[in-house]
Amino acid sequence: YLSEEDEPSHDFKALISSLPQGKGWPSPPLYQYQGFWYLPAVLQGTLACQNEFKAQDTDIFLATFVKTGTTWLKALAYSVLNRTRYSSSSQHPVLTTNPHDLVPNLELSRSSLLTNLPSPRLIATHLPLTSLPDVPPRCKIVYLCRNPRDTFLSLWLFAAKVAGKSELPLAAEEAVELFCEGGCPYGPYWDHVLGYWRESVEKPERVLFLRYEDVKEDCGSCLKKLARFLGCPFSVEEEEGGVVEEITELCSFGSLSNLEVNKRGVTSLGTETSAFFRRGEVGDSRNFLTDQMVEKIDRVTEQKLHGSGLSF
Ligand code: A3P
Repeated sequence: YLSEEDEPSHDFKALISSLPQGKGWPSPPLYQYQGFWYLPAVLQGTLACQNEFKAQDTDIFLATFVKTGTTWLKALAYSVLNRTRYSSSSQHPVLTTNPHDLVPNLELSRSSLLTNLPSPRLIATHLPLTSLPDVPPRCKIVYLCRNPRDTFLSLWLFAAKVAGKSELPLAAEEAVELFCEGGCPYGPYWDHVLGYWRESVEKPERVLFLRYEDVKEDCGSCLKKLARFLGCPFSVEEEEGGVVEEITELCSFGSLSNLEVNKRGVTSLGTETSAFFRRGEVGDSRNFLTDQMVEKIDRVTEQKLHGSGLSF
């Protein structure tokens, strides 16, 4: 979230110098704020949105930990909400615009961009529930989680890909170690997931909790759940007319990753769009991580999620 002034304020510099500092992925360092780890630029945007962002009752937040399928969720939710405007699929914005430019991120975008979104505003965030700015209880939040092994793998490879050419990527062992200690952007992963999970159990009308693995297995059912939750369920005519399958196909990994805009584009925040599409499979971590690494991540998962009713 950037106000019109981009320069870090004196107060921000003072705050950041007082925060615990941790190792970056591979650089710059991360800072711990309200129990989670942030890159300096993200922290600046986080503080600005906590102070200045004005939520509207109709806002819809798409919340995710990094690398858990944010791009996919953005495309799906955008397509569900706008399905009557773009019934002719050759005109669909998903075909020509990367999902990150269709659904801006709360803590990373310019304030004016968010203010000017049409209502209901669809806004993405990686912030943990406890660090969201004031969000009225009527706002809907959709959380998409992914199993920690695949999330770790995707994050580790993404960090190496977008790092500067001169930077050495983190060794896998060290990255697993840091991830398990919580030290990665927006980490600890488990605290992030649990915050939204508990809220979804307590207030299912406020938070819809989805899993990447379930969307992969049965995207149609998840889309129907999503549309009901957002107050725009698919009609019988739409279901019979194949609208759910059309959205599933439009947003599938194969279709999105083959679009020109996602093969050779750059997002408005400067990331090559192809970096958001690697393999899009469940269980790929098995092909990269040693048994010891998997066991380590699984052990932390068991400890952290014990008694929560959530498991992977
Ligand atoms: P992999 O690295 O395992 O392939 P995010 O969007 O949160 O950055 O997450 C990126 C992960 O989601 C990557 O996982 C990416 O390939 C996968 N992904 C992107 N689009 C997808 C889609 N349409 N369907 C399934 N997975 C998708």
